[in-house]
Amino acid sequence: MAAVLVARGGGAAARALTFGCLRQLHTVYQTVELPETHQMLCQTCRDFAEKELVPIAAQLDKEHRFPAEQVKKMGALGLLAMDVPEEYKGAGLDYLAYSIAVEEISRGCASTGVVMSVNNSLYLGPILKFGSEEQKHQWIAPFASGDKIGCFALSEPGNGSDAGAASTVARLDGNEWVLNGTKAWITNAWDASAVVVFATTDKSQKHKGISAFLVPMPTPGLSLGKKEDKLGIRASSTANLIFEDCRIPKANLLGQQGMGFKIAMQTLDSGRIGIASQALGIAQGALDCAVDYAEKRLAFGSPISKLQAIQFKLADMALALEGARLLTWRAAMLKDNGKPYTKEAAMAKLAASEAATTISHQAIQILGGMGYVTEMPAERHYRDARITEIYEGTSEIQRLVIAGQLLKEYRG
Ligand code: CAA
Repeated sequence: MAAVLVARGGGAAARALTFGCLRQLHTVYQTVELPETHQMLCQTCRDFAEKELVPIAAQLDKEHRFPAEQVKKMGALGLLAMDVPEEYKGAGLDYLAYSIAVEEISRGCASTGVVMSVNNSLYLGPILKFGSEEQKHQWIAPFASGDKIGCFALSEPGNGSDAGAASTVARLDGNEWVLNGTKAWITNAWDASAVVVFATTDKSQKHKGISAFLVPMPTPGLSLGKKEDKLGIRASSTANLIFEDCRIPKANLLGQQGMGFKIAMQTLDSGRIGIASQALGIAQGALDCAVDYAEKRLAFGSPISKLQAIQFKLADMALALEGARLLTWRAAMLKDNGKPYTKEAAMAKLAASEAATTISHQAIQILGGMGYVTEMPAERHYRDARITEIYEGTSEIQRLVIAGQLLKEYRG
């Protein structure tokens, strides 16, 4: 599948692209000198986003419509299982490639970006890392092709940041696990065909009593809550999952019993690179839009890009974006090299999500009234950016993770 990406990318690499803006290539790409494969992948994803996502992103957002056809095409390109080895029908690429792809897709449509990120990082990630050989064959391939997508259920109505306080219960009854409880804020919920769900088998053991399970969707005893009416990322579905005596085979335990919290934390370390990349895409889209407008809009007899007030804003926006991108790529490369990356992934997510919020805010300021209406994408970037500071760990949680790791390093 990697070959599909490279072959398509190779043909497109020489073409000059426009993405509704003036800039052709990320300057940071030139600075860091990405491997050729990654540059071609970037171009392929940019082509795809421009052709398939940019023209419909506003409509998808308006209608809260899941981009089913586009997701299927992304599966065919290998974008839904990017670091999954080819033996399990994945693209066999690395996390740097994944980060680049999520950014480019999110630049076209942030909702599609999170659909992709959740399937890659939160659903397939833990199965690839902790699943048995049999589980990998059963639960990965259909979710790599775009035929099906997966989701991840950790948060509950009563606990989000305090993930160790899970109250959803799993009880072993003969050859089956019986699940009871409610999971909240589940991205992809309405469109998913399976979920990695976390439940406690022994509440007295707190986080050490949590285990992870694979549950097909739909399945008896599992119902969906209402589709949340959200500020942004409206083309992706978000809902509760309600488990009422939901029975699954004993073999659907993922990893060992009691290992669930560690599986969740390690999965989120990777997931945070995905969300950081989504935030970069939103921020880049907002910056592109602001530059394009500033070059065309005339005031006091010349384009507003000639005014220092506007230039200072653009400089700060580019600085925040490129710094966040370097942090995100560093986290991805550490993961690719088998090095610890918990702190770096939290830094990447914190920097990129806060950059996306600030940059999309400033883009509206540059566009003025035109930034405030749906005719231009700036107001959607602003709405889409906000969630990146909340899901997969709030900015406050990222700061806790960073400080915890930092103090550990100092204390040795
Ligand atoms: N990797 C491996 N192990 C880890 C770990 C990591 N990154 N982080 C913690 N652990 C381990 C610790 O080593 C410790 O192990 P022992 O019990 O063996 O000592 C154990 O986990 C407990 O660690 P803590 O005491 O640090 O745990 P805590 O209860 O204080 O919680 C936390 C730490 C960082 C606050 C964590 O709860 C957390 O990340 N919370 C945020 C959860 C989150 O991101 N939720 C988003 C859900 S997904 C989503 O957004 C929906 C969606 O669909 C997109």
